[in-house]
Amino acid sequence: MKKTQNQMLIIFGASGDLTARKLVPAIYNLYKGKHLPENFVVLGASRSAMTDEEFRQKVVQESEFLKDKISKEGKDFIADFAEKIFYEDLGDNYDTKYTGLSKRIQQLNEEKGCEENYIFYLSTPPSLYEVIAKNLCEAGLTQEEKGWKRIIVEKPFGYSLATAKELNEGLHKYFKEPQVYRIDHYLGKETVQNLLVTRFSNSIFEPTWNRRYIHHVEITNAETVGVEKRGGYYDKSGALRDMFQSHLLQVVSLIVMEPPINSSAEEIRDEKVKALKSLRIMTSDEELANHTMKGQYVASTINGKKVKGYREEEGVNPDSKTETFAAVKFFVDNWRWKDVPFYVRTAKYMPTKVTEVVIHFKSPAHEVFKSQDVYKKDNKLIIRIQPDEGILIKFGVKVPGLGFNVEQANMDFYYSDLDSAEIMDAYERLLLDAMQGDATLYARADEVEAAWKFVDPILKYWENEDVPTYGYAAGTWGPRNSDDMFEGHFGWRNPGNRLTDETGFCIL
Ligand code: BG6
Repeated sequence: MKKTQNQMLIIFGASGDLTARKLVPAIYNLYKGKHLPENFVVLGASRSAMTDEEFRQKVVQESEFLKDKISKEGKDFIADFAEKIFYEDLGDNYDTKYTGLSKRIQQLNEEKGCEENYIFYLSTPPSLYEVIAKNLCEAGLTQEEKGWKRIIVEKPFGYSLATAKELNEGLHKYFKEPQVYRIDHYLGKETVQNLLVTRFSNSIFEPTWNRRYIHHVEITNAETVGVEKRGGYYDKSGALRDMFQSHLLQVVSLIVMEPPINSSAEEIRDEKVKALKSLRIMTSDEELANHTMKGQYVASTINGKKVKGYREEEGVNPDSKTETFAAVKFFVDNWRWKDVPFYVRTAKYMPTKVTEVVIHFKSPAHEVFKSQDVYKKDNKLIIRIQPDEGILIKFGVKVPGLGFNVEQANMDFYYSDLDSAEIMDAYERLLLDAMQGDATLYARADEVEAAWKFVDPILKYWENEDVPTYGYAAGTWGPRNSDDMFEGHFGWRNPGNRLTDETGFCIL
């Protein structure tokens, strides 16, 4: 196991939602799992006036996100955790001299023995990234003469290719690329990491993982909720920026990439960048019209409960054309994937929460059992990212009795069947990786830019008033005509919440 050195985690935007909801619970899990180094300090920094004690109360003792976890533990155990947490008020503005912050960091460093190893976690709007980096640098907090310095930034990483480049350039003025950790919580999911292991640790999948055997690839990411309280942010973003550019293109890169030379961060990320660069960028309006589709949920009744349409949500423009459903068909321009279509969709308010990858294999070259319908029911490899995490293979078997009637059977594996104990939550895993200096599961600058390069033309095309935004009733599988994107008799597989549910079947 890698060693985690003594260090301090300084969180900017510490009074915000993410710190209480995700970061502190992840650090608590690391504490409980004995993954924290001996000397470890969390210093929250933001613009609210709070004492250390008030901050501890907010993010530990009174936190609704830790309530269940800490209720089972003894007082001393919790007090010992809370005592690792401190708070520094930055005043009215993040763009200020960090003299006070620097003094506090130095004092805590000396008292607690953090060996000048610092991670700066920016849980702030991206517009503040460069400003914070600059002020950290001016306060001498980015120098690595003694101890390492790392910076973690949250998504959205840019709003377009140009803004992502600006952000990268802004950060690179003060931090070198190996110091920058761009978080994408999908990469922290065990099942997403398992895509690499499934492909590259087995000799049965990889030989068929190409245009000779694969007919098409389908990825669905569905959520059962609407935009909730994030209407203001979401209306300027939309599904393509919010989910597709980041999380889903990360998943795509793991499916498309070539085998890396070894499992080092740079080798894996080099292959992922190459994969993203090989996605065919759509240039003509005709291609963009046929291969992309946007939709928006409208008011509906789900399980007897009325739900609002997107345009009625708080913070959303009543005439908004922002997509809550995005579907893209694309090709990958390389030897392995030539002419294999990829279909990827993501949406809010669908019938079930699910993320899965479906590899559809081609029919056998010579159809011996021609009269059977089985050739329409292709072999599928279904990789379930969430929930009911697992892998399902669908294949033809003989129906007992006369003749050669063929039916589809399932071969399934469930993560929950593994007895190896703890599965780390995404933030927990990613934080620990950054603490150990492992950037494999973080996005590199060129990776983010390659993803934007593919997405930019679609966004530009969708800005055009003439591009239709199809309505779909909240709680359904998106616009009715979304199957029209497919070639041949195929359509989207509408999965249930259990891995082996038959397509279209789902428990709400
Ligand atoms: C976030 C998006 O990055 O991912 C949200 O901003 C989305 O809109 C969320 O709901 C989905 O994450 P998960 O892990 O629940 O699939």
